[in-house]
Amino acid sequence: MLEETLNRINTELREAPDKGLVADYIPELAKIDPNQFAMSVCLADGQQVSCGDFTTNFSMQSVSKAFTLAMALGRYGDGLWKRVGREPTSNAFNSVVDLELGGGKPRNPFVNAGAIVVTDALLSGRTPKDTLAEIVQFVRAAVGDGDIYINHDMARSENITGHRNWSLAHFLKSTDNLEHECELTLGTYFHQCSIELNCQQLARAGRFLAGLSGGHDMIANRHVRSINALMMTCGHYDGSGEFAYRVGFPGKSGVSGGILAIVPGVASVAVWAPGLNSFGNSQLGTLALERLSLAMSWSVF
Ligand code: DON
Repeated sequence: MLEETLNRINTELREAPDKGLVADYIPELAKIDPNQFAMSVCLADGQQVSCGDFTTNFSMQSVSKAFTLAMALGRYGDGLWKRVGREPTSNAFNSVVDLELGGGKPRNPFVNAGAIVVTDALLSGRTPKDTLAEIVQFVRAAVGDGDIYINHDMARSENITGHRNWSLAHFLKSTDNLEHECELTLGTYFHQCSIELNCQQLARAGRFLAGLSGGHDMIANRHVRSINALMMTCGHYDGSGEFAYRVGFPGKSGVSGGILAIVPGVASVAVWAPGLNSFGNSQLGTLALERLSLAMSWSVF
């Protein structure tokens, strides 16, 4: 049933007339062929079913923010919320005005400003190199196999053109919500966003957030619940309401077109389609999850 559903979605979506647009503010992302599509699902019984280009690597981008949040919650617990809020926003993921209105406290850990603060917190007492090694190690452990690397060309590309993130980091610095120099925190953040994996690996990496076997013991259960709540309310930025309405379970998107979605206790789902909608979330990825949710009755509502 699941295999047939995935194959049907794969066939249908490859014919979709509007695939969205690839992100072009990071030159390395602008080069990606938008005619690619992959989906992979891990189930509670250990089974994994995949379709499409599921062995092709893509950069995690903002999907990495769910993993750094998990690490920061493990290290700081509720202390993290002194520096970052837990509220959705009606502004874009890289909004500067949102940060200014919050007096330098980002609205949530998934908008860029919030994720930059989370990475800054992870840097505390460590070098950027060691911090990155820890992040990669955490993702590797979540996936359960070793083949996860950083795409350095992607990180360099973003470092050069990421003016919006530089302005967010400087604003955070001006309000004393950035412990390290902007270049250290952003250098780490850009590299974390450039961690590459394929759809099959991303679905496996999400098992700890779905409470599935193979994913146990990464973080405490209460943190799993917190992260899922934030993925549901903030994981798709100002498009989070639309995602919750259409799909009905938590998800975290990335500007490379990846989405990690969690059906608590049931499945970890990864989808990748590089074309984006106007909120910067995967256009066909969202549609695929909507169809999967309907076919499998996986909405949590
Ligand atoms: O910081 C950025 O702009 C990117 N590295 C990540 C943004 C992102 O993935 C937004 N998601 N849809």
